[in-house]
Amino acid sequence: MIIPHQETETIREALKQYGYAITSPLADKKIVRTTLQTIRETMVGIPDNPTLGASPEDILGNYQKLCVGGVFESSIYRPRLLRIGYSPFWAEDLYGMHELGRIFAEFRNRILGLPDSFAIDEIENDRRYSALRFQHYPKGGGFLVKHRDIVNVANNEHHKFEEFVQFLLPLTVKGEDYSIGGGFLFDRNNCEVDVDSTCPLGGVIIYSGTMLHGVREIDPQYPFLPFHSAGRIVMMASLFKKFDSSERSRYKRIR
Ligand SMILES: [Fe+2]
Repeated sequence: MIIPHQETETIREALKQYGYAITSPLADKKIVRTTLQTIRETMVGIPDNPTLGASPEDILGNYQKLCVGGVFESSIYRPRLLRIGYSPFWAEDLYGMHELGRIFAEFRNRILGLPDSFAIDEIENDRRYSALRFQHYPKGGGFLVKHRDIVNVANNEHHKFEEFVQFLLPLTVKGEDYSIGGGFLFDRNNCEVDVDSTCPLGGVIIYSGTMLHGVREIDPQYPFLPFHSAGRIVMMASLFKKFDSSERSRYKRIR
C-alpha cells in the first residue's frame, strides 16, 4: 500500500503494525531524475576512496568510497558491494542532491516528530546531523547481504519510535534502470516485500532497522564494470551522531 506522504499518523501506524511504510512521491519525477543524472555523471569523475580508512571527519564533507568485501559489525560478518557518496548540506553540492535531500530530510523530521529544520544545516548540540548520501549498487552484482541495523540507541532517544527507523528514497526504478535484484525486507509477519517494485519514483521506503533487509544482486547477468554508474541508486539522510573521540568506535573492520 502506498500512503500519501502528508499522512504522518497513517505512516507511523503502518510502521508500528507492519514494520515498514511506503509513501507517495515527495517531489515530482523531474527533480528526482535530474538528481539521479547529476549523481551518475559526477561519481564516475571522482576516484573512489578505499573500503577502509574513512575518518569520522572525512564524511562531514564530500566523500566517495567503494565498499568491497565484508565488515564485521557487532560480530556479524556483512558482505556487500556498493559505492557511497556523502554530501552533507554544508558541503559543496557536488552531486546536485541537496535540493531533493532537503525535502527528504524535512519529511524525515516530520515523521520522527522533530522540528522541520532539525540537524539539516548544522550539527545540533546533541551532535546529531543529517548524513545525506547516495548509495550506488552497481550493475553486474552490486548487493548488500540480508541484515538488521545495529545502531547506537543514542540515534533514537529523542523521538517516539523505540526502534531505529531508516528512510530510503530510491532514485532509480526497477524495470527501467535495472531488471533483476533490488531492495527487499521482511515485514512483521515475516513476509518478504520487494520494496523497489512497490515504491513509486520519488516515494520513500521507511522501515524499522530491526527487521531483516538487504539488496539482492543488481543485474548479475551483466559484467561488473567498476568505473560505471549504471545500477540502482538510493538517497539516504539518516541522523548520525558526530563522532566523539572519547567514544569507542562501534565497528570492528576486517582487513
Ligand atoms: Fe541496513
